Amino acid sequence: MTSASSHGPGPRFGIWALVHGSRAALQDPDEPYDASWRRNRALVLEAERLGFDSVLVAQHTVNPHDGESAQLEAWTAAAALAALTSRIEIIAAIKPYLYHPAVLAKMALGIEEISGGRFAINLVNAWNRPELERAGIPFAEHDARYAYGREWIEVVESLLRGERTRFAGEHFKLDDYRLSPAGLHRARPRIYVGGESEPARALVADRGDTWFINGQPLADVQALIADLRRRERPAGWAPLQFGLSAFVVARETDEEARAEHARLLALAALDAPLRAANKPNIDPKAVMFQTAQKSPRVGSNGGTAAELVGSYDSVARRIEAFHAAGIELFMLQFQPFEAEMRRFADHVLPRVAGAAARSLAARADAARA
Ligand SMILES: Cc1cc2nc3c(=O)[nH]c(=O)nc-3n(C[C@H](O)[C@H](O)[C@H](O)COP(=O)(O)O)c2cc1C
Repeated sequence: MTSASSHGPGPRFGIWALVHGSRAALQDPDEPYDASWRRNRALVLEAERLGFDSVLVAQHTVNPHDGESAQLEAWTAAAALAALTSRIEIIAAIKPYLYHPAVLAKMALGIEEISGGRFAINLVNAWNRPELERAGIPFAEHDARYAYGREWIEVVESLLRGERTRFAGEHFKLDDYRLSPAGLHRARPRIYVGGESEPARALVADRGDTWFINGQPLADVQALIADLRRRERPAGWAPLQFGLSAFVVARETDEEARAEHARLLALAALDAPLRAANKPNIDPKAVMFQTAQKSPRVGSNGGTAAELVGSYDSVARRIEAFHAAGIELFMLQFQPFEAEMRRFADHVLPRVAGAAARSLAARADAARA
């Protein structure tokens, strides 16, 4: 099948790679823990065949849920995926403190070349204190991390363009530094930014191409988009685009979907001791974890708070409503991932594609009238 977005004006759909195993609940008899390269390779190849447009490879050097469990390395996996796939966009997350900007920009340009112009970075600010501290890397205060990230992305952006870069900031100094090859396929790889706090919003408004919003109800997402659309953009830059993270539970009927959501919530409750043990690791200023307290949900980054829980028709309608509000890319989670991803491709994608085609036809009719 083809994706809703490969023809017509519909949204794009992506999947979260399973870099640290299951997304909703770790103790699921239907989805044993598996964060292996072998699984992720098969998953992403299948997603591409099913018509998904994008894959997000989160970056965690150490598994953030359970430091003992396997964690797939984002940048090596992204490079390998780039070589194996042919159409899907590959987005790798990056935490500035872990890489010097010149090294990271060089890696990004490498994957841009391998993928033939399908690579993007997702700039994130870090929240898992021991991931940095136990490696001897200071975990600065929330807003200081954003100030560091702002300098970092300024350098990376210039290098990604292949510009001869001179930079003298508080953290970085580059003297006449230039990377080659650059610009083989387009001006530079895309820059996504994930993070919801005020400094995250300021950063994406003047340094990013797409803002990744944590899953939450439509009215909240509309308010966030309105806030970002009010902000100034650098001269000559395209308008900011918006992506939404969401966990999908879709079934024939709303009742069946609600029952499945309840089943996943019960399974997720089994992980409560693990979550409690991890709590001290989380930066309390990370806004993502503050909004996570608002309602019961499964999945990370808002998960089912985006309310993509319901019948195939209901989920398709909510996707259309988010798309009308400005969401261009839906970055989706499922559990068990492979089976539910196929279900979404079989039942929801065609409904959204149908709606997109109808809206295009209506616009063409209106233009003719
Ligand atoms: C779509 C999305 C993807 C994210 N991916 C990662 C990731 O790969 N690694 C990580 O440590 N944090 C990730 N984060 C979390 C950000 O690091 C988090 O939003 C930040 O630490 C808290 O910033 P805030 O207070 O601005 O929300 C992601 C956030 C979003 C919205």
